[in-house]
Amino acid sequence: MLYAKNRQLFKVQFIFTIYYFSTMRMKKLADEIYYVGVNDRHTHLFENMLPLPYGVSYNSYLIVDEKTALIDTVEISYSEIFIEKIQAVLQGRTLDYLVVNHMEPDHSGSIKQIKRIFPDVQIVGNAKTFGMIEGYYGITDNLHEVKEKDKLSLGKHVLEFIMTPMVHWPETMMTFDLTTGTLFSGDAFGSFRALDGGVLDSELNVGDFWEEMRRYYSNIVGKYGNPVQKAIHKFANVQINMICSTHGPVWKENIAQVISMYDKMSRYEGENGVVIAYGSMYGNTEQMAEVLANYLSDYGVKNIVVHNLSRTNASFVISDIFKYKGLIIGSPTYSNELYPEVSSLLMKIDTRDIKNRIYGYFGSFTWAGAAVKKLHAFGEKMDWDVCSTAVEEKQALKPERFAELEQLAKEMAEKLG
Ligand code: FEO
Repeated sequence: MLYAKNRQLFKVQFIFTIYYFSTMRMKKLADEIYYVGVNDRHTHLFENMLPLPYGVSYNSYLIVDEKTALIDTVEISYSEIFIEKIQAVLQGRTLDYLVVNHMEPDHSGSIKQIKRIFPDVQIVGNAKTFGMIEGYYGITDNLHEVKEKDKLSLGKHVLEFIMTPMVHWPETMMTFDLTTGTLFSGDAFGSFRALDGGVLDSELNVGDFWEEMRRYYSNIVGKYGNPVQKAIHKFANVQINMICSTHGPVWKENIAQVISMYDKMSRYEGENGVVIAYGSMYGNTEQMAEVLANYLSDYGVKNIVVHNLSRTNASFVISDIFKYKGLIIGSPTYSNELYPEVSSLLMKIDTRDIKNRIYGYFGSFTWAGAAVKKLHAFGEKMDWDVCSTAVEEKQALKPERFAELEQLAKEMAEKLG
C-alpha cells in the first residue's frame, strides 16, 4: 500500500517536473553551448547607484560535452530559476566544472547554490579568484587553478584561459573556446538592457543597445582603459566567431563594431560634440548654459547635449562625456565651494580618469566667487586642453557677459575642428 502511494507520488512529481521544465525554452548558441542566463527587470539601481530603465541581463553559459562546464553564474536573487535552467539542459547529468571569469557578485552570487546542488563540481579560476571565493563564500575545496593560456579539455571543446586583470576586477579572466571560436568575455563587451526575447544580436534590434553599452562601459569599466586595451590586443590576431559577455546580447554579427566601440571608449576617443553640464539653484547659471549652447550652435557644433545635474542621473552624463570630445561645466558658488551636484560629477570624472577632453567652464556667484577658480583647477588637474576664456557672472546673467560666452563657444568650436 505504502509502495503504491510512493509510486503515485513519484509519478506526480515526475509529471510536474517534465511539465515545469518543458515551460523553459533554452537557447542553444552553438554546438553544445547553451544560454542559461536571466533577465533582471526588478532592480532599480545597478550597484545600488546606476539606474536600469530597461533592466539588465546576467548571462551564463553551459557547455554540455563529454564533461559539462558552466561559465559564470548569476545574481543571487535569480539563483533558483537559474539552477532550474541548468538542470533542464543537463537532463540528469552532473556539472563537472564551474568556470569563474569574474567574482563581482552579479556573476558569482549563485556559486554557493551551484555547489550545494553539484557538490563535486570543480571550480576553475586563478589564484586571485580563489582568494575572493574564500572571502565572499567561504569555499576552499575542489578548486582547479589556471594560469595564462592554460587549457582544459571537455571532450570536443577545449577551453583556454586568458588573464585580463582589471577588466573589471583584479581576478578577471576570459575563457576562449578554441573549438568554436567563442569568447566568454566577462564584463567586457557587455551592456545594460534586458534581453527581450532574443539572445543573439541577430535576433535583436541592436540599435537599442549602443547607448546602454556606452553607459555600462563608461560607468563601470571606464576607469580601466589601459587594461581593456591590453585585453583587446591579446585577441588582435585571434579569429573570434562569437562573444558571450556577462551582460547584454551575444555578439555574432556585430563583433567588429562591438570591439571597435570598446577600443574607442578605452582610448577615451570622443566624437565631435560638446556636453554642457551645469548646476543651478535659481536658473542664473542655467541661463549661461543656454546662451553658450546657442553660440556653439552658431559656430557649427551640431552635437550639443545640455545636462542639468540636479535632474539627470550622473551615469547618463558620464556616458555622454565619454561620447563627446568637448566638455563645458558650469557651477554657481555654494558656501564658497562648487555646487554639490557639480562637485559630485567632478569626483565621478576623476574616479574614471577620463582623458583627452577639450574643456571649458563658467559660473556665477552672489557675493564672492569660488566656483570658477575651482573649475579651472579641475581642468588643469585632469591635464585637459583647457579653453582660455573663463566666464563668471555676479548674480543674474547680463548682456555684457554675452561676448565672453560667445568667445568661449568659438574657442571650443575651433578646438573641436
Ligand atoms: Fe557585471 Fe563587474 O560585474
